[in-house]
Amino acid sequence: MTMDAYIADLPKAELHLHIEGSLEPELMFELARRNRVAIPFDTVEAVRAAYDFSNLQDFLDIYYAGAEVLRTEQDFQDLALAYFRRAAADRVRHAEIFFDPQTHTDRGIPFQVVIEGLTSGMAAARTELDVSSQLILCFLRHLDEDAAQATLSAAEPWLDRIAGVGLDSSEVGHPPSKFQRVFDRAGAMGLKRVAHAGEEGPPAYVWEALDLLKIDRMDHGNRSMEDEALIQRLAASGMTLTVCPLSNLKLCVVDDLAKHPVPEMLRRGLHVTLNSDDPAYFGGYVNDNYRALAAAVGLTREQVTQLARNSFEGAFLSPGEKIARL
Ligand code: ADE
Ligand code: ZN
Repeated sequence: MTMDAYIADLPKAELHLHIEGSLEPELMFELARRNRVAIPFDTVEAVRAAYDFSNLQDFLDIYYAGAEVLRTEQDFQDLALAYFRRAAADRVRHAEIFFDPQTHTDRGIPFQVVIEGLTSGMAAARTELDVSSQLILCFLRHLDEDAAQATLSAAEPWLDRIAGVGLDSSEVGHPPSKFQRVFDRAGAMGLKRVAHAGEEGPPAYVWEALDLLKIDRMDHGNRSMEDEALIQRLAASGMTLTVCPLSNLKLCVVDDLAKHPVPEMLRRGLHVTLNSDDPAYFGGYVNDNYRALAAAVGLTREQVTQLARNSFEGAFLSPGEKIARL
C-alpha cells in the first residue's frame, strides 16, 4: 500500500477547522446569486487566483470579505454540510469546528441564524455521513474584550450546543492576556478553552495562552519551538497542538514544507495533530495536509499513525466516544 493510500484509509479527527474557511469559491458564487450579494470576482478561477498571501492578515482580509455571502440559516447549513462531505471522504470520523460569530453578528446576521444553520448541518452529517462534531466559538482577537464578552453573552441560550471557546484572527498585537477575563468566564460556564498561539506571535503569547487563558488545547503553536522551557512544558503537560501544514505554507509561517517543525515536535514528545485550518483558501483538506507533509519531510507510517491517534486523544470526547469513532 502506498503512503497516500495508507493516509486515505486512516480514521482521523479534525480539530482545527474554521467553517468559514471551508467556503469553496463555487459555493461562494452560488450563495452570492441566491442572496443577491455582489462579489468582486467574475469567475471561480479569479477567486482562486486571488488566494496568494504573504502573511496572516493578507488572508484574513479576503476571508472576512468571502463570508459576506453567508446570510441565512440555509447558507450556514449548506456550508457545514459541504465541509462534512469532504471530511467524510477523507475518513474524518469526528470534527471540532470553529465558527466566528462576530464576523456575522457585526453585519446584522443574528447569532441564532448562524448557530441554527451550523447545528442543522452538523446533525445531517451525523445521520447521513456518520461524522460526529462539536462547535467551538472563536472570539476575534482584533476586536476588544467587551465585544468578546457580549458574544459570550449572546451564546448563553445555546450553551448546550457549544463545546468550547477559541481565539483567532490577527495575532500579533493582540496577546491572549487581552482576553483573560472572558476566558475565565467561559471556563466557569463549563466550556473548554483553546486559542491560536504562536502562529505568527512570539513564544510569550503561547505562555500567556497556557497560564492566563488556561487552554485545554493549543491551535498552531509553531513558534513554541523557539523556547526550550516551553517545549518541555508542552511535552510534560501532554498539551495537544493542532498544527496546519498547508496553512503554514500559504501564510508564509514556513517558507518550505520540507522545513516544517512537525518532525521535531514529534521527536520532542509533543502531542501534534494535523489539520486543514481553512481548506478552501489553503489548497487542501486534511488528507492533503497529511500527504503533503509526509512527502515533504519523509514521515514514516508510524509517525502518520501517531498523528491520527493524537487527533482522537486530543478530541473533546469521552474515552468511550473516542473508541466508538475509530
Ligand atoms: N481565522 C481563520 N484562520 C485563521 C488562522 N489560521 N489564524 C488566525 N485566525 C484565523
Ligand atoms: Zn486557524
